[in-house]
Amino acid sequence: MQKKSKRLVVAITGASGVVYGAALMEQLNELGIETHLVISSWAKHTIKAEMGINHQQVRELADYSYSEDNMEAPISSGSFLHDGMIICPCSMKTLSAIASGYGDNLITRAADVTIKEKRKLVLVPRETPLSPIHLENMLKLAQVGVIIMPPVIGFYQHPSTLQEAILQFTGRILDLLNIPNKLVNRWGRES
Ligand SMILES: Cc1cc2nc3c(=O)[nH]c(=O)nc-3n(C[C@H](O)[C@H](O)[C@H](O)COP(=O)(O)O)c2cc1C
Repeated sequence: MQKKSKRLVVAITGASGVVYGAALMEQLNELGIETHLVISSWAKHTIKAEMGINHQQVRELADYSYSEDNMEAPISSGSFLHDGMIICPCSMKTLSAIASGYGDNLITRAADVTIKEKRKLVLVPRETPLSPIHLENMLKLAQVGVIIMPPVIGFYQHPSTLQEAILQFTGRILDLLNIPNKLVNRWGRES
């Protein structure tokens, strides 16, 4: 395989909003970014329930994909170099495991490693309303440099469809990872 400009680790967990994770994978695929994907067991259920498709269709967008039980995968080690990890969406369960350093599956282990190696980690947590436990876990992670990015619609971007709102949010994730994109209607610009 030809060397790609960036290499990212992406995880999709079983929170609502798996469509954001699928949209992110589509964009990264189109932009030629190397992706290493893990879809949790519960994300497989939510993909089916919310998108009406098999998780395999999302998995096919990745360059490399792993089972969440595969602790021997390259992304389990800090010696695996990458340009950032995104968990989109991120369930409260996975968020709490990461906040506690509890790496019992490949997603939480790869996130733990990303934090210790001081690489970029972006979480798209989804739950509402948020309890003090959720908020404390997010604060703890934000204090060690993790980017907490809830999937909130930017109405100032005037999305006219849900798909547009999803793509605009996806563009803001790409911004955080320094990936040039045209998905965001930037404030102060005509287009
Ligand atoms: C349809 C559906 C929607 C769910 N939505 C959420 C959610 O929005 N946020 C959340 O934290 N958990 C949600 N859950 C529960 C998680 O799937 C559950 O806590 C699971 O253990 C998460 O595991 P994972 O992080 O390894 O994927 C949902 C479950 C189902 C079946």
